[in-house]
Amino acid sequence: MAQLWGGRFTKETDKMVYEFNASITFDQRLYEQDIQGSIAHASMLAKQGILTKEEKRAITDGLEQILEDVKTGKLEISEKFEDIHSFVEATLTERIGEPGKKLHTGRSRNDQVALDMKMYTKDETLMLDGLLQQLLQTLFGIMEENLDTYMPGFTHLQKAQPITLAHHVGAYFEMFKRDRGRLYDMYQRMNVCPLGSGALAGTTYPLDRDYTAELLNFDCAALNSMDAVSDRDYLIELLSSLSTVMMHLSRFCEEIIIWNTNEYQFVEIDDAYSTGSSIMPQKKNPDIAELIRGKTGRVYGALMALLTTMKGTPLAYNKDMQEDKELVFDAIDTVKECLALFTGMIGTMTFRKDQMERSAKNGFTNATDAADYLVSRGVAFRDAHGIVGQLVLYCIENNLSLDEMPLEAYKKISPVFQEDIYEAISMKNCVERRTTLGAPGKDAMKVVMGLYKTYLEEN
Ligand code: ARG
Repeated sequence: MAQLWGGRFTKETDKMVYEFNASITFDQRLYEQDIQGSIAHASMLAKQGILTKEEKRAITDGLEQILEDVKTGKLEISEKFEDIHSFVEATLTERIGEPGKKLHTGRSRNDQVALDMKMYTKDETLMLDGLLQQLLQTLFGIMEENLDTYMPGFTHLQKAQPITLAHHVGAYFEMFKRDRGRLYDMYQRMNVCPLGSGALAGTTYPLDRDYTAELLNFDCAALNSMDAVSDRDYLIELLSSLSTVMMHLSRFCEEIIIWNTNEYQFVEIDDAYSTGSSIMPQKKNPDIAELIRGKTGRVYGALMALLTTMKGTPLAYNKDMQEDKELVFDAIDTVKECLALFTGMIGTMTFRKDQMERSAKNGFTNATDAADYLVSRGVAFRDAHGIVGQLVLYCIENNLSLDEMPLEAYKKISPVFQEDIYEAISMKNCVERRTTLGAPGKDAMKVVMGLYKTYLEEN
């Protein structure tokens, strides 16, 4: 056992208690943030005359060496320490002696851990954003190639109206674009530095909190020390944003799983992203899509767990807050992995354009267009709806699509139909005539693609 406290205790901590309380097994991943935060703190203490120049030099050199040694594997983070803060401080003192003991002047582990976690969250948010950006690039590429790939659009998972693959993928482009926006908003709001808040009530030393905030790349220093040490809102916002990312990935995975079935055959997942069965030799399973869909549960779980952990904590710091780490680390790791794998999977997937178009034709997705045809020739929409209902019934009974139904049969149901009905309900026409902004028609899509291109270049 190695802890920073003990002066007022007369007995050793119980072993189980010590282990239950310690966080080194998981907070050791914050070593770099902890060391950078300590270097900034020491520099500020020297600037304020609280440490001598020599002391500051010894401390910062010592910390930089520890950082390098941990990174290169020369120094192992020992789990006999209570937490990463204790490990860094004790190692420093062991290496440089007296000045090491002065590092913690005007600081508490409460503001230290709040700082480490914020720095970590900032770094990871940028990485998550990069992964979302790569996914958007991949989706954009698929869209560019599929402006003419017709497929059925669904409501209630029933074929509804024809769209294009580009339009369908574009819906996800919007979702992941919003996800980036949510992370950006969270980042802006949380970018205030808690360092210098002490345990809860600031300190009596003349700290320059603006200076450390600037050294550590924060917008400013936090304005209330009690809030600064006990604020975990940004982690809840992060987990909420990540839950939404997973919800979007999961919806897309669900569609890919359906599209990949023998019944649909809209896509073929690349061999590198599929798995086989130990018993059924014919199988090629969409395990990766299923796992991403499944892992959504653990990210939602992290959000619920942290919200629940925080709800009963009085001001200011409470040890409950240590629970934030494993939840957030696991959620970030999970989402990073899922984003990278999903991007790889969708980027290598084959889209069966022929199957998609055939499916759009076979499902009466052009029925609305047949009704619109009648309306444009003077029939009231409600009557047109009824007439086309009869056409559909005729087709079902005779196992035909609307495109295949003979003209005499059309005319028998309504004399308004002429030869040009076939042109009016052709897949191409049905889609291309939808040119309002946001619709699948190629002209409308090209406008949107232009906006997406600029977005990707500028963001
Ligand atoms: N390990 C703690 C955490 O993760 C930080 C240390 C603060 N501990 C304390 N007893 N005040 O929240």
